[in-house]
Amino acid sequence: MKLQHLIKSMFAATALMSAAASVHAVEIEVLHYWTSGGEAKSIAELKKMMEAKGVTWKDFAVAGGGGENATTALKARVIAGSPPTAAQIKGPSIQEWGKENVLANIDAAAAEGKWDASLPKVVSDVMKYKGHYVAAPVNVHRVNWLWINPEVLTKAGAKVPTTMDEFFVAADLIKKAGLVAVAHGGQPWQDATVFESVALGVGGSDFYKKALVNLDQTALTSPTMLKTFDTLAHIKTYIDKDAAGRDWNLATAMVINGKAGMQFMGDWAKGEFTAAGKVAGKDFLCVPAPGTAKSFTFNIDSMAMFTVKDPAVQKAQLTLATTIMSPEFQEVFNLNKGSIPARAGVSRAKFDSCAIKSMDDMDATNKIGGLVPSMAHGMAINAAQQGAISDVIAKFMNSTMSSKDAVAELAKAAKTK
Ligand code: BGC
Repeated sequence: MKLQHLIKSMFAATALMSAAASVHAVEIEVLHYWTSGGEAKSIAELKKMMEAKGVTWKDFAVAGGGGENATTALKARVIAGSPPTAAQIKGPSIQEWGKENVLANIDAAAAEGKWDASLPKVVSDVMKYKGHYVAAPVNVHRVNWLWINPEVLTKAGAKVPTTMDEFFVAADLIKKAGLVAVAHGGQPWQDATVFESVALGVGGSDFYKKALVNLDQTALTSPTMLKTFDTLAHIKTYIDKDAAGRDWNLATAMVINGKAGMQFMGDWAKGEFTAAGKVAGKDFLCVPAPGTAKSFTFNIDSMAMFTVKDPAVQKAQLTLATTIMSPEFQEVFNLNKGSIPARAGVSRAKFDSCAIKSMDDMDATNKIGGLVPSMAHGMAINAAQQGAISDVIAKFMNSTMSSKDAVAELAKAAKTK
């Protein structure tokens, strides 16, 4: 080729490339707190799918289980006037952000994808602010699980517990065998996670709703609440001395590698078992937290979209929302995350026995009034109330505070506006 032609065709190629770049150079910045092994694998699938659609993914990951650190980072960015494109927020806090007038309307994606028809109303209501979709749900996590290493049980001569009494029998045997009975990380949100499962087991779902959803003072100060704290105090005696500050996934690792027998945790814990190549029903067991078989504490993760000016980014937000709600994404994300799809129409074929149980139990508990929002995971009450309640529980877990004092403080914290 003559030099002149070569230069000409090089120019043409460069022009083509930059045209392609300007079409594809849209960048979205996504704030989330999915940084453990299983979580990172899950969110990587969304990144992959968005990049395949020509959208560049700027990861804004803020470590810290339960998302407290991520919320702090989000507030700072919104106050500074530069919110991320999307952020992992959920439950009543979507309404709180909606009131600040910072969320973007994604009705166009919802209408095109017929979201109203494929989401249970309990889910779609949470994703809307004043009747308009502002967030897309990625999953449904169940919180009231107990994760068990069956080998540890066998070694200890213990049986899978279904009631609190059986739980303490198993815990005693595991302790006697020289292992940690209860894997736990001493962080307020983990303490609150155990607490709500215990309250549910001790009092049942009606009590749970009255006390931890409606913040009813009679339920909060009842003998049942006293018994909840007494039970929590008893559980405390089976937690090892190094638990302070331990991340939840490190506690799960103790169950995975047989150092500990059991962990109270939502099914993001299953994401860790899966990432470690462990098989449900064989290498690990998932059973409802003692006494909670007829209830299901739900925790729905979602991505809320923030108002942005650039029309190309607005378009990318709709692409993100549509991708999140696609059956392909809901399948692969939830296989890794330990949760179940939020939407209907996703094949069950690849899901393990824990996920199938979760799907079945969600339906069954919904029919009998046992499907309840997780207080510890931002589904039930506003952030200020949740924070005040979690503080009391954490104080109880880390001191010699009596159950009676804890009940009084809890009832006071519930009055937070
Ligand atoms: C979130 C999960 C997350 C877990 C641990 C929960 O509140 O809903 O998605 O895996 O916290 O960070």
